[in-house]
Amino acid sequence: MLILGIDTSCDDTSAAVLEGRKILSNVVSSQVEIHKKYGGIVPELASRRHIEMIWPVVSEALDKASVTLKDIEGIAVCNGPGLIGSLLVGVCFAKATGYASKIPFIGINHLEGHILSAMLGDETPGFPFLCLVVSGGHTSLYRVDGFGQYRELGRTRDDAAGEAYDKVAKLLGLGYPGGPYIDRLAQEGDPSWVEFPRPYLHGSFDFSFSGLKTAVKNYVESLGKVDHRSVAHICASFQASVVDVLIKKTLSAARRERISNVSLSGGVAANRELRRRMKELENREGIRVFLPPRHLCTDNAAMIAIAGHHRLARGERSDITLTARAVLPV
Ligand code: KG4
Ligand code: ZN
Repeated sequence: MLILGIDTSCDDTSAAVLEGRKILSNVVSSQVEIHKKYGGIVPELASRRHIEMIWPVVSEALDKASVTLKDIEGIAVCNGPGLIGSLLVGVCFAKATGYASKIPFIGINHLEGHILSAMLGDETPGFPFLCLVVSGGHTSLYRVDGFGQYRELGRTRDDAAGEAYDKVAKLLGLGYPGGPYIDRLAQEGDPSWVEFPRPYLHGSFDFSFSGLKTAVKNYVESLGKVDHRSVAHICASFQASVVDVLIKKTLSAARRERISNVSLSGGVAANRELRRRMKELENREGIRVFLPPRHLCTDNAAMIAIAGHHRLARGERSDITLTARAVLPV
């Protein structure tokens, strides 16, 4: 089954073509250049850019897959959660295209896409597996018992992990989005230079990163001037705290749920230190860790298409009343 996937939930316009689980194309048009001077996403600019880019990006995805719209058998579009104006562009495009070309279409939850990105790799986890979704908008742990069977075990009570990366990068005067800058600089720094707090929230699988962000802010202010070496040490120390918490909570959830397959998704899952430390669990804890390639961790339409593939194959369909939702539980 040839599926066209579309994701316009935030600041990237993405379209992909999948044949079964096989990715024929996965095009992501980034808006970083537009938003970086504001240090964050400006929703109105994001939706306007999606309108300009949706058709060129879909065309490129079809061309790269060497197919035309006539070959497409189903359209999967992300309809939430996300920025409402951005989501509407993808949803309206998918509905109009599906209706005009008589192609069945289905709305897909962005988080289901992240969870099922584990199914795009060469090796895929068997059910049940645990999925840690760590992105700019979400930090949640899910128990996955099958397609469509997801139970959230815990979530952030305040900032998402990626949001903390972005805010810390901003206060250190690094670029936007901050995650990749901190990832790179942390390689040069000493993770034990500052002992930042580890918000474990014992007794729950919830997360909290806003106190950590404030601790970094207070520390940076207490230093006055920060040179390049200090910035690298602060990045490494901040990252050590985030990664410690993510690893410890994932491990304790895996033990409590008696699950031995763990996967990672979301932009922060592209982080090298998190990936390295997660992989270490394989030998130490006997857990199998599935890490999608880094470009499939950040927002992309292939993950929406794989979710759509499973739902459409089961006969699920959306109709013309499909709408975008800023808040949409998985
Ligand atoms: O999943 P994603 O592309 O979009 C959302 O749904 O939020 O995640 C974007 C987030 C940003 O906060 C970005 O700073 C973070 O993922 N990120 C990283 C890395 N690459 C992206 N954080 C840490 N290390 C990275 N290498
Ligand atoms: Zn995402």
